[in-house]
Amino acid sequence: MTTAEITRAGRPEAGAETPADIRIDMVRPGVLRLTIDRPKARNALRTQTLREIAEALEGAARDADVRCVVLTGGPRVFAAGADIGELAAHDATSILDDARPGHWKAIRAFPKPIVAAINGYCLGGGNELAMHADILIAGTTAVFGQPEVNLGIIPGAGGTQRLTHAVGKSNAMLMALTGAFIDARTALAQGLVSEVTQAELTEDRAIAIAKTIAAKPPLAARMAKEAVLKAHEVGLEQGLHAERRAFCQLFATEDKHEGVSAFLEKRRPAFKGR
Ligand code: CAA
Repeated sequence: MTTAEITRAGRPEAGAETPADIRIDMVRPGVLRLTIDRPKARNALRTQTLREIAEALEGAARDADVRCVVLTGGPRVFAAGADIGELAAHDATSILDDARPGHWKAIRAFPKPIVAAINGYCLGGGNELAMHADILIAGTTAVFGQPEVNLGIIPGAGGTQRLTHAVGKSNAMLMALTGAFIDARTALAQGLVSEVTQAELTEDRAIAIAKTIAAKPPLAARMAKEAVLKAHEVGLEQGLHAERRAFCQLFATEDKHEGVSAFLEKRRPAFKGR
């Protein structure tokens, strides 16, 4: 069963497991919304939550009806980090066999664009999850932080790397070393998020952006994501090489011919994802 089938039906088909920690729905054609739904624990990301997000994204990757994903924690909180109760049960040996790195890997591997809609606390693993999104939209209530240092640990899901790329060394150090939170306006000024909206409009804005992306030729959207991410992963020479290869590959697609022909013929393009 595909993710879209789950959501079109509004519930899983018989025999399929219903996610307990997230809600999944198709909010617009091509736009799948994943909502973390553990409000009593401030959407803390227990292993099950991460597994459900990873599985939903794996399903969405295979589903041609999904062109873009909106990831949110709803109107009050994005996610207050890893579930500290789970962390308490680990020692230096058991954490080596922790299942979570596998789920993070699956989230990172999701090839289609993700837009995060962030309200309220976005802390620790929550901020690391938000930074797995490609575009981050914050409500005025959003609060970002990497407070792991207060627990005697450090960010463990890419926070030291992605945050540094996003906000620069000194700002990342300030957050990681002091555990201090920053508000939405500061996150915007530092480049962690793309826009700040009124809190009640965050999801709408993220959905609008996702809807725009969903109408684009999907292969080009996917390759644009891959190429931009390369800028964080490899040196300039390799990044330029990857961009050039993707650029040339797209010349073999029907959607390239359609996009160019539609422009020249002054009509709207009808992209097919081929
Ligand atoms: N894990 C587990 N439970 C959490 C949690 C977390 N990260 N964050 C909040 N909760 C729980 C609280 O224990 C509390 O549960 P009870 O009602 O059963 O007591 C409930 O959520 C509400 O929390 P508060 O009463 O504290 O709510 P608040 O609104 O006053 O404060 C908060 C919210 C500032 C987010 C505060 O809860 C907090 O500081 N949470 C921890 C933040 C944190 O340290 N995150 C980093 C985790 S480590 C990590 O993420 C590692 C990594 O990189 C992968």
